[in-house]
Amino acid sequence: MTRVAVIGLGAMGGRIARRLIDAGHDIVVWNRDATKAAPLVGPGATPARSPCEAARGAAAVITMVSDPAALRDVTEGPAGVAAGADASTTIIQMATVGPASLTRLASVLPPGAGLLDAPVLGSLSEVESGSLRIFVGGPAELMERWRPLLSALGTPLHVGPLGAGTAAKLMANSTLLGVLCVLGEALALGEGLGLPRDKAFDVLAATPLSAQAERRRRSIESGQYPARFSMSLARKDAELILEAAATTGLDLRLAAAARTWFAEADGEGTDPDYSAVLARILERRPGRSRT
Ligand SMILES: NC(=O)c1ccc[n+]([C@@H]2O[C@H](COP(=O)([O-])OP(=O)(O)OC[C@H]3O[C@@H](n4cnc5c(N)ncnc54)[C@H](OP(=O)(O)O)[C@@H]3O)[C@@H](O)[C@H]2O)c1
Repeated sequence: MTRVAVIGLGAMGGRIARRLIDAGHDIVVWNRDATKAAPLVGPGATPARSPCEAARGAAAVITMVSDPAALRDVTEGPAGVAAGADASTTIIQMATVGPASLTRLASVLPPGAGLLDAPVLGSLSEVESGSLRIFVGGPAELMERWRPLLSALGTPLHVGPLGAGTAAKLMANSTLLGVLCVLGEALALGEGLGLPRDKAFDVLAATPLSAQAERRRRSIESGQYPARFSMSLARKDAELILEAAATTGLDLRLAAAARTWFAEADGEGTDPDYSAVLARILERRPGRSRT
């Protein structure tokens, strides 16, 4: 049976490993905090002592860590994935990072090793149900080789050569971050001008934000934002979007404005769900007290 390593067992990576175990794959796992590997070990996965050990003997290595620094930490150096990979290994990079991280990762891999960038759209429930959208960049034949594995997690969409998956993911997340801020500001405007909240939602239902307003209404009204995708990761993505845009000379003014909201909402000690940026925007309305 083909052995697959999963590096990074956080909210997403842990569920990816579980889903692949349940689909019958031979899985080896590594996480910096080893306690997160424990529930997967035993009848499911084999634990590794380092990313290097996990990669050695694995046909594919999935990386699902938080950010560019974490990706460097798990792939580089004597204990990293690159040290355990060889020409028979395919690295499937699924974390949300920027183009520079992918170029760097490609440069540290041994000659002949395969690399796909395959970041995902969708969150915890989408991993659990195998309904992620997976944006894949890299050689088409390599993607076809790993299509059955990726299909256990969701729907892979080949978007172009190496780097295209990362580009697609940053583009998709620019819409997620932007639309939340536009929604928050629209509600703040309505309320600031005296519209009752239920009337404001009636109005939003007739706008291009209707689906998003409906989806977020319960959280806005209850003040409860169930944790799926953390504020710190959303802030990281806002930074990655602007860094990537800057390398091409693009002036993304709405993305820059969204970054300010996420930066403000992220700096408060806790790390709530990213949608709690709505609470931050609504709290900033004059006359409202801030928590
Ligand atoms: N959550 C979502 O809804 C969602 C959706 C789509 C994409 N993503 C992307 O998927 C990736 C993972 O997200 P997540 O929600 O699973 O994050 P998470 O729950 O915070 O998990 C982060 C993972 O990265 C590891 N890590 C962080 N810094 C590290 C370092 N320096 N060295 C080694 N490992 C390190 C953590 O290890 P420890 O456990 O030891 O801290 C943990 O395994 C991110 O790039 C995120 O943007 C998330």
